[in-house]
Amino acid sequence: MKGIVLAGGSGSRLYPLTLTTSKQLLPIYDKPMIYYPLSVLMLAGIRDILIISTPSAIPAMAALLGDGAQFGLNLTYAEQDEPRGIADAFVVGADHVAGGPSALILGDNLFHGAGFPEVLRTARATLDGCVLFGYPVKDPQRYGIAELDQDGRVVSLEEKPLRPRSDNAITGLYFYDADVVDIAKNIRPSARGELEITDVNRAYLAQGRARLIELGRGFTWLDAGTHQSLLDASQYVQIMEHRQGVRVACLEEIALRLGYIDVEACYGRGIEMKNSTYGQYVMEIAQALA
Ligand code: DAU
Repeated sequence: MKGIVLAGGSGSRLYPLTLTTSKQLLPIYDKPMIYYPLSVLMLAGIRDILIISTPSAIPAMAALLGDGAQFGLNLTYAEQDEPRGIADAFVVGADHVAGGPSALILGDNLFHGAGFPEVLRTARATLDGCVLFGYPVKDPQRYGIAELDQDGRVVSLEEKPLRPRSDNAITGLYFYDADVVDIAKNIRPSARGELEITDVNRAYLAQGRARLIELGRGFTWLDAGTHQSLLDASQYVQIMEHRQGVRVACLEEIALRLGYIDVEACYGRGIEMKNSTYGQYVMEIAQALA
């Protein structure tokens, strides 16, 4: 399965923070925002990942992440010159996906919770059509919303409805089969002028092949698109890391635990950053797992 991180957009809701840098490179506590969605794809067992961003942001992203070898990944980059909508990821990324299944994650989404790797693996193994991930929110007008029947089957999908039929938000993580590129190429821009990922999901729903996994209230899902939500995400990560003594979305740790890199490579990455507590943690993890 291939992965895509959609990390473009103007980030205008974060101005002036994003006047000279990309939103997805801003810090969430101790690491760049894009580490968090990358960690999710890694935990799903996906190593071949396309990062889509603006022409101006890609050089900095490539400087940060390179070809991904330090995490045992194969990272490539593609430009989205205008924010044409989330579904545009499958137009820009059509060659990358190349007729196989794929997972798309938005570059400002943070997922964290016990058992998540297992949820991801199950979703991947049982994929038929598309798998969406739902999360209860108190402001459903801001999101794609799923209505479910008594058996948990998806009945309707709506993008930012004025009168939401449920509080079940569709998070920014999507698993698709090989049809997604054809579906995305055939949808038309919405009233707000975007290629809506919700319209892609509705096409699967019309075929009876859209499934939603509810992440539930014990789970954490955050997006970091405003000043307040950026701070909320940082505070969440800081509290979790200080309380538990383990890092959220430490890519070197995930790569080592999954066997994508060896102990020496992990330790070497830690040494490169040894003046930071992050680097020291990476070294400690390498020593603990040696
Ligand atoms: O976060 C989950 C929500 O994401 C879903 O519930 C909605 O169904 C989905 O439409 C989307 O809503 P948003 O209003 O949050 O989407 P936004 O336009 O803010 O884009 C999300 C991220 O994707 C943002 O970090 C920028 C990036 N992006 C967006 C567009 C439209 C791109 O890189 N390129 C784009 O063309």
